[in-house]
Parts: sequence; structure tokens; C-alpha cells
Amino acid sequence: MTAPLLELRNLSRHYGGGLTGKAGGQRALDAVSLTVERASIFGIVGESGCGKSTLARLVAALDTPTQGEVLLEGEDLFALNARALARRRRDFQMVFQDPYGSLDPRQRVGRIVAEPLHVLDPRPSKAAREARVAEVLESVGLRAGDAARFPHEFSGGQRQRIAIARALVTGPKLVVADEAVSALDLSVQAQVLNLVLDLRERDGVAFLFITHNLGVVDAICDRVGVMYLGRLVETGPAAEAFERPLHPYTRLLLEAEPRLDAAQMPPPRRPAPFAGDPATWQGCAFRPRCPLATERCRAETPLPRDLPSLPGRFVACHHAEAMAAEPHRLPPAKAQKP
Ligand SMILES: Nc1ncnc2c1ncn2[C@@H]1O[C@H](COP(=O)(O)OP(=O)(O)OP(=O)(O)O)[C@@H](O)[C@H]1O
Ligand SMILES: [Mg+2]
Repeated sequence: MTAPLLELRNLSRHYGGGLTGKAGGQRALDAVSLTVERASIFGIVGESGCGKSTLARLVAALDTPTQGEVLLEGEDLFALNARALARRRRDFQMVFQDPYGSLDPRQRVGRIVAEPLHVLDPRPSKAAREARVAEVLESVGLRAGDAARFPHEFSGGQRQRIAIARALVTGPKLVVADEAVSALDLSVQAQVLNLVLDLRERDGVAFLFITHNLGVVDAICDRVGVMYLGRLVETGPAAEAFERPLHPYTRLLLEAEPRLDAAQMPPPRRPAPFAGDPATWQGCAFRPRCPLATERCRAETPLPRDLPSLPGRFVACHHAEAMAAEPHRLPPAKAQKP
């Protein structure tokens, strides 16, 4: 059996408290495990500050984990030496949120898009490089001639296509997209999402697609992972997870969705459950907001597990069986203490 395209094993990133995260640290990411198959789109959702970008940076090897592994086709990225990692980068690339800030305004598009090629091969032939840039610009719906223009000559949607072209120029197997469509207006967003679907279909590119927009996940993702305060609380096929959430937090996100806007959602209680001595990092982090919380949720951290009746789905909640049995009968969320 071949290894999956991407596998995260127990991935953690703690800030402060030294690299061991022993004392006073903040767990931006905590023991996240998931698998992304070839040519699939895996969505990551969760509120602001839950660790999505931290996860993206680790997968793109732009940051180093406190613990755990990032395996690309079975190979641990953080076990590679710098040269081997640089070579391996052709297989995974990243697209950021801001189509304005992520492109150097002083460089022509051709040079911007060709940049990852330089990292791989410092002296590629000019003709080969230009041909590849033209090809990849056309593959994202721009023109070969756009290589000669500057970023300010393009709209936000076109700039995001340029950023995607840059990510695709090495022919990656995986693209990590961190809020890549969030800054775009709806019609442009739809075009870029269609491009993502095309790239998956036509070129077999897989995406780790990070967004706070459940509608985007619903539209394009095969699987979804829901994060809360650095932990993955639920993963499964996107359609099933949204139809029948197994974690009360997923359900809360879905209920909040018609009102949209993260600004309108109850604020996450950030550092409180996570700061301080790891010995006290115990229990379910969602407990203060959970309508189903019991004494067990305080005493015992729920670990991700599967439910035999629902293959392919994983959930970290003591009440998953109750959620599976009666997904539509949750009591209303408790009022927040100030
Ligand atoms: N360099 C850093 N030093 C200290 N703490 C950090 C650092 N980077 C991130 N954090 C903290 O880690 C947590 C997760 O941050 P992250 O940027 O991953 O969240 P996010 O889910 O991407 O949020 P958003 O939706 O707003 O982009 C936050 O509490 C943040 O303050
Ligand atoms: Mg982020």
C-alpha cells in the first residue's frame, strides 16, 4: 500500500515556554492528526485564532513543530536536511490570503511566478523558464503576455490567480491555501474555487484549503477538519459532517453560518484553558461553551476516535454517540459568562 500524500501525526506547535512547551506556553496547535489523499481537497475550518495558519505554516515547512510529524508520501519533512527539503518543495507550495501583500509590486509577474523555480535550480535556462511561466499562467486563466506586466495592473482575483500560478509552477502535488479566497468578492471567489476544482480534476493537485467560510468547504471540499483552540475536534467527509455533525462545536458553527461573519459569533475564550502548566491542560477545551458539557468533560480530555457506525469520521467528544443519534435535538447554547 502506498503512503497517503500527506499525513500529519500528532502535530503540535506551542509558543512561549521554550520549545518543549513545558511551562507558560500557549498551544497554538495541539496533537493534530489527519490524512490528505492525492487529488483531494481537504478543508480546515474554525474561528479566528484556532490555529489554522499555524497548521498551514507547518505543513508548508515554514515553521517547525514542537512535536509530531508532517509526512509527505511517507517522508518526514522535518527529518530532511536543508538541501533535501529545498528539493522536496517542488511538491508542496503555499498560497496566502492577501493577493495584494503577497506579490512583490516591483517585480514583473513573470519573475514572481518563476521564483520557486530558482529555489529548485538556481540557473534554469531562460527559455525553459519562460515557457513554463507562460504555460502555468494560461492554466490559471491568464495570458502568457501577462508575464511582462506588474501586479498593480491586475484586479484582486487576477492577483490571486498569479499567486496560484506561482504555487503551481513547480508542478506540486499539494497546495496549502490559507484563506486564499477570503479577500475576494463573491463572484471572483467562485471563479477561483472553480479553478481549484479544475486543477484537482485536470492535474491531480491536492489542496489543504483553509477558510473560515463553511460555504466554501461545502462547495469544494471532499473532507473537512474542524478546529477549536488548536485541536482538531471533528474530521470526515464534508457533506456528512455538515449534514450530521458529531461535535457540538461543528453544530454551533453551522448554526452560526446563516448569520455568517465571524464577528457575530460568540468569542472564543482563548488563552484561559491553554495557558499555564500543561498538567492543568485537561478536559475538553470547548466545555465552557458546550450545551452538553458534563463533569467528565472537565476531568477527561476527549481524544479523537472513530464511531463504528460511521466509517471515515473522527470526533473528539464524549457525547459523539448522543450527537450521532439525535443530531437535531441539541439544547440551545448556554449563555456566556462575561
Ligand atoms: N509567532 C507567534 N507567537 C506567539 N503566538 C502565536 C504566534 N503565531 C500565532 N500565535 C498564536 O497562536 C494561535 C493560533 O494562531 P493562528 O494564526 O494559527 O490562528 P488562525 O486560525 O489562522 O486565525 P485567523 O482565522 O485569524 O487567521 C493564536 O492564539 C495566536 O495568537
Ligand atoms: Mg490565519
